[in-house]
Amino acid sequence: MKKNIGVVPAVYPMPVLIVAAYDKDGKTNAMNVAWGQICDDDKIILFIGEGKKTWLNIMESKAFTVAIADKAHMAEADYLGIATGNKVSDKFARTGLHESKSDLVNAPVIEEFPLTMECEFLELAKTEYISGIVGKIVNVKAEENVLDEKGKVDPVKLQAIMFDQFRNGYYMTGEHAGQAWNAGIPIVKK
Ligand SMILES: Cc1cc2nc3c(=O)[nH]c(=O)nc-3n(C[C@H](O)[C@H](O)[C@H](O)COP(=O)(O)O)c2cc1C
Repeated sequence: MKKNIGVVPAVYPMPVLIVAAYDKDGKTNAMNVAWGQICDDDKIILFIGEGKKTWLNIMESKAFTVAIADKAHMAEADYLGIATGNKVSDKFARTGLHESKSDLVNAPVIEEFPLTMECEFLELAKTEYISGIVGKIVNVKAEENVLDEKGKVDPVKLQAIMFDQFRNGYYMTGEHAGQAWNAGIPIVKK
C-alpha cells in the first residue's frame, strides 16, 4: 500500500560534493553541495544559492574544484555546509584541511579528499526557476589508493558518503550489486 508523503525532494542518494574556489585575494573557501550532477561526460552542474561565498568566488575566479567527501572527513564536509565564508573569514582554515593550487585551473585542490574534479566555469544556466553553475571538467585527480588494478576508481575504496534528504543523514556506499548495461540483458534476450 503506497502512502502519499507530499512534496519532498525524493531523489536518493544525493552526493556530498565539496566545491572549492578562490576569492579575489586568492583565499580558499569551500562548501558542501548535494544538488550537483554530471550533465555530460565532461560537464557538471551545481545548484548553489546565488550570493553564497562559493558562488561569488566562482563568478570571480571562473574556476572551481569538486571533491567527493569520504567517511574519514565527514565532520569537515558537514562543517563546510554549516558555516559560510560570507561571515567566517577563516572558514576553510578552521577545518584543518590542506589545499594546494590546481596545476590546471585557477582553484584549490583539497588534499584530504580522495577524488577531485578540476573545473572551468562555463556558464550560469539560469531560468525563472533554476540557477545552475555549469563547469567543464578538465581533469580528475584521484588518490592511488582508490584506484583498481586497471586505474579506474573503485567505489568501495572511495568510501564516499551519500546524503539522504529525507532525514538529513549521511550514509555509506560500498556494496557492489551488479553491472550496468548488463543486469538487464536477460530481459533483453527474452
Ligand atoms: C549536506 C548538505 C548539502 C548541501 N547542499 C547544498 C546545495 O546543493 N546547494 C546550496 O546552495 N547549499 C547547499 N548546502 C548549504 C551550503 O553548504 C551552506 O549554505 C554553506 O554555508 C555555503 O557556504 P559558503 O557561503 O561559504 O559558500 C548544503 C549543506 C549541507 C550540510
